[in-house]
Amino acid sequence: MSEGYVDKAVELAAKYLASSSFAIALTGAGVSAESGIPTFRGKGGLWERYDPEEVATAEALRRNPELVWKLHVELMKIAFSARPNPAHAALAELEEVGVLKCVVTQNIDDLHRVAGSKCVVELHGNIKWVRCTSCTYRAKVKKPPEEVPPKCPVCGSLLRPDVVFFGEPLPESALRKAYDLCVKADVMLVVGTSAVVMPAGMLPHVVKEGGGRVIEVNLEPSAISPIADITILGKAGEVMPKIVAHVKKLLNR
Ligand code: OAD
Ligand code: ZN
Repeated sequence: MSEGYVDKAVELAAKYLASSSFAIALTGAGVSAESGIPTFRGKGGLWERYDPEEVATAEALRRNPELVWKLHVELMKIAFSARPNPAHAALAELEEVGVLKCVVTQNIDDLHRVAGSKCVVELHGNIKWVRCTSCTYRAKVKKPPEEVPPKCPVCGSLLRPDVVFFGEPLPESALRKAYDLCVKADVMLVVGTSAVVMPAGMLPHVVKEGGGRVIEVNLEPSAISPIADITILGKAGEVMPKIVAHVKKLLNR
């Protein structure tokens, strides 16, 4: 994409956002890529190095809890040491100025909250939380467990990361909230997601079907590019701050 084209697309995206009444965002691993967190698909992606069937299913946890936990301890370490990047900051600022009503995220790294976003719906859980596989124990941890697999302090059963594994349904309340937000939204910013994982990937369609606009920011075209009103190709950490700067100009902020 040429510089001039990006500038025009950024201006139009800002116009849509500034005149919106209920804008929301859907984010994926690409938003955290510039914070040093690997994405899942593509070159260097997590699923190129690991087989999800072996490390990210409920069956794998039963079969080999140590192996599953080893990967998740690595993901926890990355999440605890990572800092939000300008894309997270831009989304938090867009909420702060009253334009963005909520961020629906597929990310488990907690970085939207760390960056200051107040309304965050986590569709795939949060790697900083653990829960018991037998009882109702659930807790936020301050650091990754030193011994794996960790045991429940209440009942002694196996603990698991509070994230959605392959083949598992999404947390019902998060999915319902996300769906309700999409029904209300007149603009959705879709940032850094391949949009191939369901049901998250169908949320932009819900916005479109309700007559809303979809603005996409990604390094490359994604599964939802065909329905996007605007696709801006570039790094989220570079494009998002530009969009927010324009929105603020339009709002005289
Ligand atoms: P993916 O790894 O599938 O896609 C990442 C997207 O981000 C791709 O479309 C990239 O082009 C884009 N991207 C990479 N770096 C970027 C950057 N700096 N700026 C903008 N875009 C960039 O990740 P997700 O779509 O989040 O599920 O994957 C969805 C789900 O699949 C994840 O939540 C995870 C995984 O299996 C679970 O763990 C349940
Ligand atoms: Zn327990």
